[in-house]
Amino acid sequence: MLRVNAYDKKTGGLLGATDVVLPVSTEANCNSCHATGELAANNPAITWTSNDDPDVQAQTDDLVKLEVQAQKNVLVSHDEKHGTNLQNSTPVLCAACHYSAALDLTGDGPQGEQKNSATSSKVMHEHHGKQLDANGKPVFPSDAPVEQTCYQCHPGKITQCQRGAMKTVGLECNSCHGDMLAVGGKFPLQKDGSIDGTHDGKTRRPWIDMPRCQSCHTGDARRHLTGEGLEFYEDGIRLVQAYKTGDKSASPLLAKNKRFAENENTLYRNSKGHSGVACEGCHGSPHAIWPNADINANDNLAALQLQGHVGTVIECDTCHTPGSLQMTIEGPHGLHNVNDPEWTEDKHRNFYMLDPNGCKACHGENLEGTALSKVAAARTFTVEDGTVTLEKGQKVSCDLCHEKPN
Ligand code: HEC
Ligand code: HEC
Ligand code: HEC
Ligand code: HEC
Ligand code: HEC
Ligand code: HEC
Ligand code: HEC
Ligand code: HEC
Ligand code: HEC
Repeated sequence: MLRVNAYDKKTGGLLGATDVVLPVSTEANCNSCHATGELAANNPAITWTSNDDPDVQAQTDDLVKLEVQAQKNVLVSHDEKHGTNLQNSTPVLCAACHYSAALDLTGDGPQGEQKNSATSSKVMHEHHGKQLDANGKPVFPSDAPVEQTCYQCHPGKITQCQRGAMKTVGLECNSCHGDMLAVGGKFPLQKDGSIDGTHDGKTRRPWIDMPRCQSCHTGDARRHLTGEGLEFYEDGIRLVQAYKTGDKSASPLLAKNKRFAENENTLYRNSKGHSGVACEGCHGSPHAIWPNADINANDNLAALQLQGHVGTVIECDTCHTPGSLQMTIEGPHGLHNVNDPEWTEDKHRNFYMLDPNGCKACHGENLEGTALSKVAAARTFTVEDGTVTLEKGQKVSCDLCHEKPN
């Protein structure tokens, strides 16, 4: 977690501060299969790294000893299979031969040796995805829990790199990325599957052709994707799988209704909404979308500091001086003023009269309230016969305070 402070340049005075979680971790290792004696380092015809190896001996921590062993064995295995000389070329940068866009900060694309070998992502995911155990069963089965697949290498069992709103409802790596072979780019992408369309029908580009928020948040209550192969969440609006069932390439879906979409041809992390505010500024980072179900999690601190409660940043007053906003339907994603007596007592009526369907997009075809009109924090409003209290998480149906309008 980092604290970001903003200072007045002239006076040096502190203007504000926010605590944010940076999604980094060192919890990535290959021990479970490449430590000596394990699945990928037990061929008796090969000399694997022993405990007497000086580099292993030099470590004090038992886990780190295994890590060093596994790392050296990976080089042994690679040299054995591909005639390379990695053991004598340490330290080895895998990406020197297997291109990784994540390390190509100047964006030059594959250079030199990288032109002759597959990408880092492809060799890791496709090659491992194809491995079978002694019984002929896949070492990384498509339908196995993440602990047996992605978390064998990605951080991980301790770090829980994926958490937040989607994890809370049980979505796993597979729901968004597909399985090892899909990530490894074994199958060509379907139409609209690549970020900018240029790789539709071709292999996915690691780090570039990624899942999208709009693949599951495909619109609103009135207009969203429908059709075969789509897996709906219980609310009937959002999906629980970012691609169609049966699509081995796991090509991320592209929404037609862009209400909750990233910017065109742009990853979530680089997208902006609502007059240029970063999506992450109101939602957090891609694998820890607010809120985290653990109320005490560091992930929740930023929203708590900014608006007084956890979850999506929704309080207009967080950024707009209280009282400065006109009544509007031009908030984020077409949202109106919230927790504002002026909106509730008087003005929402006029907006409804102008465009009833605009309200139904989130409040439902029958104004019954949907997952898109849930109250973010407990609120109390004054109405004709007293007060009405809305609970956190309650769906705002239009007959909570008066009869349903027609
Ligand atoms: C769940 C088991 C498992 C994990 C975890 C695992 N591997 Fe492997 N790996 C295998 C198997 C099985 C093979 C094939 C071994 C063989 O053919 O003898 C393999 C082979 C390899 C090879 C040799 C390439 C070749 O052509 O055979 C490399 C390099 C490799 N793995 C790197 C890694 C790295 C790096 C990690 C960690 C980031 C890792 N592996 C994690 C199971 C695993
Ligand atoms: C000097 C260049 C070089 C370096 C460095 C290198 N590799 Fe390779 N690797 C190759 C070549 C060549 C192949 C043969 C297949 C190919 O053309 O991609 C290969 C194949 C593989 C394969 C098997 C792919 C398959 O589908 O059969 C894996 C897995 C792999 N490398 C992982 C790694 C890892 C992990 C590292 C870092 C520890 C690494 N490589 C470093 C050149 C290299
Ligand atoms: C055997 C180890 C291993 C396993 C298992 C593994 N990964 Fe990876 N993954 C890696 C490595 C290493 C990288 C970094 C590749 C690079 O440098 O470009 C990576 C990178 C990625 C990336 C970013 C690059 C890209 O292709 O866009 C994604 C996404 C990803 N992994 C998803 C997954 C998912 C989903 C699973 C489970 C289905 C999984 N990984 C399982 C080792 C693994
Ligand atoms: C709810 C959907 C979802 C789930 C579940 C999910 N991812 Fe992702 N992942 C994404 C999106 C979207 C991106 C692209 C992020 C962006 O646009 O900046 C991404 C990007 C990545 C990257 C690239 C680096 C980064 O952070 O941008 C890796 C690696 C990765 N995911 C691995 C995983 C692994 C491993 C799991 C399971 C532990 C997982 N993901 C679960 C949606 C998901
Ligand atoms: C695989 C499908 C899938 C993908 C991809 C996905 N989501 Fe979700 N998301 C869901 C589902 C299902 C829910 C419903 C959770 C609930 O109602 O508690 C949800 C809930 C949410 C919520 C409401 C959280 C709350 O409790 O208030 C937000 C905000 C959200 N997602 C943002 C995102 C963002 C941002 C992305 C892209 C980085 C994304 N989602 C990608 C399926 C997905
Ligand atoms: C100023 C804050 C703000 C910004 C910036 C913002 N959002 Fe949101 N987002 C919200 C609010 C508030 C909601 C809740 C709307 C609702 O429940 O009807 C929301 C809801 C969502 C949802 C979940 C919808 C659902 O099904 O529950 C997704 C997905 C989403 N936003 C994606 C994005 C993306 C992508 C961007 C950037 C292009 C973005 N948001 C920028 C405030 C913001
Ligand atoms: C995370 C900060 C943030 C939040 C939360 C936020 N806004 Fe904004 N809003 C902005 C920024 C920044 C602008 C652009 C201001 C500019 O260009 O001068 C803006 C502009 C607007 C505008 C355009 C007119 C104007 O005043 O500049 C409207 C209307 C608006 N917001 C409504 C809302 C509503 C309604 C909500 C609550 C549902 C909301 N905003 C929540 C940051 C935010
Ligand atoms: C983008 C989705 C969205 C649209 C479009 C939308 N609403 Fe809402 N509405 C919400 C959400 C979310 C809440 C709960 C906000 C909260 O209190 O946290 C809400 C709450 C309300 C409330 C209760 C006041 C409050 O602050 O909670 C009223 C009244 C209301 N909406 C009326 C309308 C009317 C009238 C329209 C059409 C002009 C409309 N809404 C359009 C999402 C939407
Ligand atoms: C938190 C309380 C509250 C909620 C929720 C609420 N309203 Fe109202 N509404 C009022 C109040 C107060 C009035 C003015 C007094 C009256 O007519 O009862 C009003 C009046 C109206 C009127 C004018 C009176 C009429 O019946 O013609 C319309 C239309 C209306 N609301 C539409 C909506 C719609 C659409 C929703 C749901 C999206 C909604 N309201 C939700 C409090 C609410």
